[in-house]
Amino acid sequence: MTSILLRGRTLSFLRWPETIDDHSAWRYEEDGGLLIRDSRIVAAGAYAEVEKQAGERTKKIDHRPHLLLPGFIDAHVHFPQMQVIASHGAELLDWLNTYTFPEETKFQNAQHGRRIARLFLDEMVRHGTTTVAAYCSVHKASAEAFFAESHHRNMLNIAGKVMMDRNAPEGVLDTPQSGYDDTKALIREWHGKGRQLYAITPRFAITSSPEQLEMAGALCREHPDLHMQTHLSENHAEIALTQDLYPWSRDYTDIYAHYGLLGKRSLLGHCIHLSEREADAISASGSVAVFCPTSNLFLGSGLFDYQRFRRRDKALRIAAATDVGGGTNYSMLRTMDEGYKVIALNGEKLNPFQSFWQLTRGNAEALSVVEMVGTLDLDTDADIVVLDARATPAMRLRMETIESLAEELFLLQTLGDDRAVREVYVAGRAAKSDMIAG
Ligand code: GUN
Ligand code: ZN
Repeated sequence: MTSILLRGRTLSFLRWPETIDDHSAWRYEEDGGLLIRDSRIVAAGAYAEVEKQAGERTKKIDHRPHLLLPGFIDAHVHFPQMQVIASHGAELLDWLNTYTFPEETKFQNAQHGRRIARLFLDEMVRHGTTTVAAYCSVHKASAEAFFAESHHRNMLNIAGKVMMDRNAPEGVLDTPQSGYDDTKALIREWHGKGRQLYAITPRFAITSSPEQLEMAGALCREHPDLHMQTHLSENHAEIALTQDLYPWSRDYTDIYAHYGLLGKRSLLGHCIHLSEREADAISASGSVAVFCPTSNLFLGSGLFDYQRFRRRDKALRIAAATDVGGGTNYSMLRTMDEGYKVIALNGEKLNPFQSFWQLTRGNAEALSVVEMVGTLDLDTDADIVVLDARATPAMRLRMETIESLAEELFLLQTLGDDRAVREVYVAGRAAKSDMIAG
């Protein structure tokens, strides 16, 4: 049995922090310890106390003065879009047709999928992200490549092959039947294998025929424990085209509701231009609205109204995500920095504790994986990020004037990126230094 004892300033969340003085919302240890046995956290708290529980052969790793937090979670990302990032000049539908769909046709080639899956998960680890909800391409082989790589690294990831049978080039289309059959086969092979979780993934209403959404709904009924992920209400032209394609529907959300796609494990990317009725329906179903700030700014899609959605009587569950490659950065720190600005443009503020809650426990709750990750609780998986707020000369300089944990977190969010991620543990194994060494 391998065990390691990490020492550092530990921070994890118990609930949403209402204000920066809401101390009972988090647990912070100035000299903290995390004892990890095999892949789990078996003791956590003040270092002096945790050390007493360590055996003689326990390896001790001192990360002081850095912060130890639960690994970051990215609730919406497209792994086949690594070579789409930085595609210039288009809004959503043109961007999909001009750059994204042609790029995704390359994943017909299984070898290409394996290469990109490896590089993608390297990037996740480099940036401190230990769990993602990922879209693969339409090709079954792309999901196989993703899961094989994720399983090899023992990461907890959620993913699915996209189902799309119309309004895209031939090379990225399936059919209602093949989309169903491939999804079934992938669920059989990968869901619950090690830490892998499958998400039923109809891309969005524009690229799925009514028959395909019917099949996606059948899959959700047959597998109620699975996630479902799709896109909703990102862009005005998208919404108008969707209404043309489903003229009977009351609104965009109504389409997904009609096919049985809403529910507690449903992840709805973007949700920018929702009516009150749609927000009510999403709230009532327990579905999650996924905030993708760098993508929403880059594609000029609009401003997600985070605080309104949180505060309304029928509040929405919210997750945060990069949405690479519409999103422009792999880092969840960069993502929340842009998120802060989007929220500011809506006349509101998110405090640094709220941001870091969102990146960890908040996203874990939204993805229904909080029993396993997103906290530093006993018996959860040891997915941990080590953050250095003095990682760059500019950060070091600014740290000279910083006096509180809240200020330090805000600096990490505002100036931090992969350089601030000193180490990442995936299921108790040092994954970032391993990758660099390897
Ligand atoms: N809507 C449908 N597909 C996509 C995609 O790949 N990225 C984004 N941002 N929106 C989408
Ligand atoms: Zn997306």
